[in-house]
Amino acid sequence: MTTPDLPYLNLREMEVAAAGVLSPAALAYYVGGANDEVTLRANRAGYAALHLRPRMLVDVSGIDLSTTVLGLPLAFPVGIAPCALHGLVHPEAEVATARAAATLGSLMTLSTLSHRSLEDVAQAAPDAWWFQLYLYRDREVSRALIQRAEAAGARALVLTVDAPYLGRREAIIRTPVHVAPGTVLPNVGPRTPGSEGTDDLSYFNTLLDPSLSWADLVWLRAQTTLPVILKGLLTAEDAALAAEHGCHVWVSNHGGRQLDTAVTALDALPEIVDAVAGHAEIYLDGGVTRGTDVLKALALGANAVFVARPALYGLALGGEAGVRHTLALLRDELRLAMALCGQTRIGDLGPELIFRS
Ligand SMILES: Cc1cc2nc3c(=O)[nH]c(=O)nc-3n(C[C@H](O)[C@H](O)[C@H](O)COP(=O)(O)O)c2cc1C
Repeated sequence: MTTPDLPYLNLREMEVAAAGVLSPAALAYYVGGANDEVTLRANRAGYAALHLRPRMLVDVSGIDLSTTVLGLPLAFPVGIAPCALHGLVHPEAEVATARAAATLGSLMTLSTLSHRSLEDVAQAAPDAWWFQLYLYRDREVSRALIQRAEAAGARALVLTVDAPYLGRREAIIRTPVHVAPGTVLPNVGPRTPGSEGTDDLSYFNTLLDPSLSWADLVWLRAQTTLPVILKGLLTAEDAALAAEHGCHVWVSNHGGRQLDTAVTALDALPEIVDAVAGHAEIYLDGGVTRGTDVLKALALGANAVFVARPALYGLALGGEAGVRHTLALLRDELRLAMALCGQTRIGDLGPELIFRS
């Protein structure tokens, strides 16, 4: 069942192999979390601690993994979370990632902080990408980006709300991230004079607006006809506010890279589902490395699940084919996990699949 693209049997093997090919700066940037990395570890551990209640004697000779997100058909409910700077590990950068996602019927979320332009990504994955927005202090710059994303065919805007300031990622304080000299990041523009001493990530952060609040959502929604998803919510209270503002919900702790000891998305999911299911779509990311992880998140009410680091490791190991390998492993593992749980359709998955002690 497994894709023949690369020899790795699972995402853990890919992570180990990628660590051998990434530069020290890329490795520090990709792998690390904030502070003591408590949340980073909890993201993974949470899935292992949750056990499944499989049903038997169900005809599982045909499994349908297809679903939709905001009306967009997906071949299986796994997409790629926004991650910055794919060009640190592969010359085709976000274009390779987008092609891989489109080829398999998945969905790519393009970060504001990308090496390649959103128009390039739109061409690589027509109609199958979302644009992740960090709101700039200069709203005119953000407005222009939103208009470009909409014109290029983005299917939704994903506003990241958990990063008013960069989390304290000690690995990149020690080994800062620098893009290749002379690179102009298309959604960031040339450096302002006098900023030369600052590493690229810290510089980018100075452009973002830490005063962002619920009031700004009214402004944002007036700029676009696209659906808006708020990425980084972890409480029922904020999810309810998101739905009141006409937004969808992406449950995430930013891969353990922002507030250390924050709750995991998996633990936050049930209260968020209680608060907004039926009023907003709900997505989740953080620590997903197995098909059973995807299955558990879906059973608890997520509409789709996203991965960041596993896609980056695939990109580092094999460009487009590597990202395909990442996605195909998750897809095939999910199919098998569903079969072994006696489940045949994504829409039928529910919390009764999860064992509660
Ligand atoms: C290297 C890296 C860069 C990231 N860049 C962004 C970004 O530009 N925007 C954003 O909203 N989230 C960003 N994230 C967070 C991811 O979208 C996602 O929330 C998280 O990493 C998911 O966890 P996972 O890496 O365990 O799959 C980044 C994560 C990583 C690992």
